[in-house]
Amino acid sequence: MDVVESIDALRQARARITASVGLVTTMGALHAGHIALVEQARTENDAVIATIFVNPTQFAQNEDLSKYPRDISRDLDMLRQAGVDLVFTPTAEQIYPTGFQTWIEVEQVTQGLEGERRPGHFRGVTTVVAKLFNLTQPHRAYFGQKDAQQAAVIKRMVRDLNMPLAIRVCPTVHEADGLAMSSRNVYLSPEQRKAAAVIRRSLLAASAAYEKGERDTNNLRVVIESLLKSEPLAQIDYISIADAGTLKNIKGSSDKPVLVSLVVKMGNTRLLDNMLLPASLNTIEELTQILGGA
Ligand code: PAJ
Repeated sequence: MDVVESIDALRQARARITASVGLVTTMGALHAGHIALVEQARTENDAVIATIFVNPTQFAQNEDLSKYPRDISRDLDMLRQAGVDLVFTPTAEQIYPTGFQTWIEVEQVTQGLEGERRPGHFRGVTTVVAKLFNLTQPHRAYFGQKDAQQAAVIKRMVRDLNMPLAIRVCPTVHEADGLAMSSRNVYLSPEQRKAAAVIRRSLLAASAAYEKGERDTNNLRVVIESLLKSEPLAQIDYISIADAGTLKNIKGSSDKPVLVSLVVKMGNTRLLDNMLLPASLNTIEELTQILGGA
């Protein structure tokens, strides 16, 4: 596995790869969710490139940029084991040199959900992801369902700017008790970690109600809310029940696929998870097709 830090070295290493390339972009502190993306990339491409970059422009002032978990040697071991061919670990100065002033903004699908709570976040994400696409020139790039709005925003950017690659959206990987894997889970105390399983239980309860025929979003919301409220350590940030194509909140009921997104705060840590309803849609092909529209 080649590991390169500079843009020049990346361009040289990339030029040596003539076969198809799958890209997995990460901020490091890797876990099985990231590795699932690598594995999917390996099955669909001849070579896999991974990037590790804690992108400062997607963090707001009050967020956790300086304490974001970092463990590069462990990350590289995991990527090597997973069969990655090339890893790019740039510095912030290389990505944002003095004089940098070009940004990509996706306008509508960034509006609700995370975009509403984290102003400027998606501008930072789309800008860095566009740069990483330009630098690594992948045929396919792999994103996780866990950040469903991010995947929808990137799909939109790729379509709108005619970027020559396919976006693939892979199902969320969970811990044994149902907590969605996240680099930020290390912030949780043992009590918070245990309590956090309520998020997935709430999504599954909503899914069970949906399977029984419940389509009214108010009723689905009540199912979720009552479970979340039964856990004293969990503070609800938001419960969104949205059209999976537009990510706009649904009032009343809808026959179209629905994205249920939960953000729960445990102390200062925001935990995200989501599910497409009906539950049969939480597969790579359906997620790739449905999230953010075709
Ligand atoms: P990061 O949070 O490191 O996530 C990298 C990729 O892994 C994203 O596509 C994310 O959705 C996916 N991922 C995270 N947890 C997952 C889980 N439990 N199951 C499946 N996939 C999971 O997302 C980012 O970094 C950044 O915004 C980035 C795209 C790298 C741009 O800076």
